[in-house]
Amino acid sequence: MKKIAVVTSGGDAPGMNAAIRAVTRVAYSKGLKVVGFHRGWEGLMKNKFTSLTPRSVGGILGRGGTILYTARSPDFRTIKGVKRAAETLAMHHIDGLVVIGGDGSIAGAYELSKETNTSIVVVPASIDNDVFGTDETIGFDTAVNTAMTEIDKIRDTAMSHERIFIIEVMGRKSGFIALTAGITAGAEVILIPEAKFRRDEIFRTIKKNEAKGKKSSIVVAAEGVGNNRKLARDIEENTGSEVRLSVLGYAQRGGSPTARSRLLACLFGNKAIELLSEGQRGRVVGIQNGKIASINLEKSCKTKRLPDLTLLQLANKLAT
Ligand code: F6P
Repeated sequence: MKKIAVVTSGGDAPGMNAAIRAVTRVAYSKGLKVVGFHRGWEGLMKNKFTSLTPRSVGGILGRGGTILYTARSPDFRTIKGVKRAAETLAMHHIDGLVVIGGDGSIAGAYELSKETNTSIVVVPASIDNDVFGTDETIGFDTAVNTAMTEIDKIRDTAMSHERIFIIEVMGRKSGFIALTAGITAGAEVILIPEAKFRRDEIFRTIKKNEAKGKKSSIVVAAEGVGNNRKLARDIEENTGSEVRLSVLGYAQRGGSPTARSRLLACLFGNKAIELLSEGQRGRVVGIQNGKIASINLEKSCKTKRLPDLTLLQLANKLAT
């Protein structure tokens, strides 16, 4: 192994820069050259790259976003696009590729692994936390802390005005942020795409809270559960309470990574280079029961990671 490449792909996540830094510096410590391709798969398909050195990745550990830029690439969903990326890897004599990204990036990495001789290792980084093979992704802790802090602030208004708030957090297909931010901010109702819910139960919970003297309630809803604006109107009509919707949006994807997200980035980056140096191919790095580990890329790609749904029952008990 002489030369490796790095890409960041899909939605950005706080800690991606810390992972680029770790991969680059650990690789250099082993005498490897490092190239960073720009805008994820786009850079590989269009041969847009920059060389990375221990110095060029200085000062980025605490910065959100990604210095390599990122993109969602429809062209990479075609076999032509994947083959073009494989050709670029061959042209640069890249022995190992580190892909930093979430579930979509894992799917892309798996497709590319079928077309290239370059060894591929994925470092999971996504605010959504929905990567099979790791208990946590880089960026999740930061996003949850952002969401929790914002929900705490909105709770002040909810209590002062005796209103119901629906707070929409990110997660089109996954409820990890809603579940964790909801529990840690004491939400009265948590709605996630992985668990069915009945609207009349939400109305009942809010009315029950009112009867108990709880004049404000917080509903934390993942964006993927449906039309939260319509839900706000329905709650208003069915409970007679004043309801507001607050969409937290992309603030959850940005900002300086927490210590937890930075640490995972350092550990995952180190592990990725270790795996490549050992000659391993097609792996996804992760943390499992507190230990840094890795699993097979195909298995991670083909398995959906679900949140622990018993946490919804706990949230109900805690929010009485
Ligand atoms: O990166 C994950 C995520 O933030 C999801 O939670 C969200 O549904 C999606 O990305 C939004 O994607 P885009 O950047 O394409 O708007």
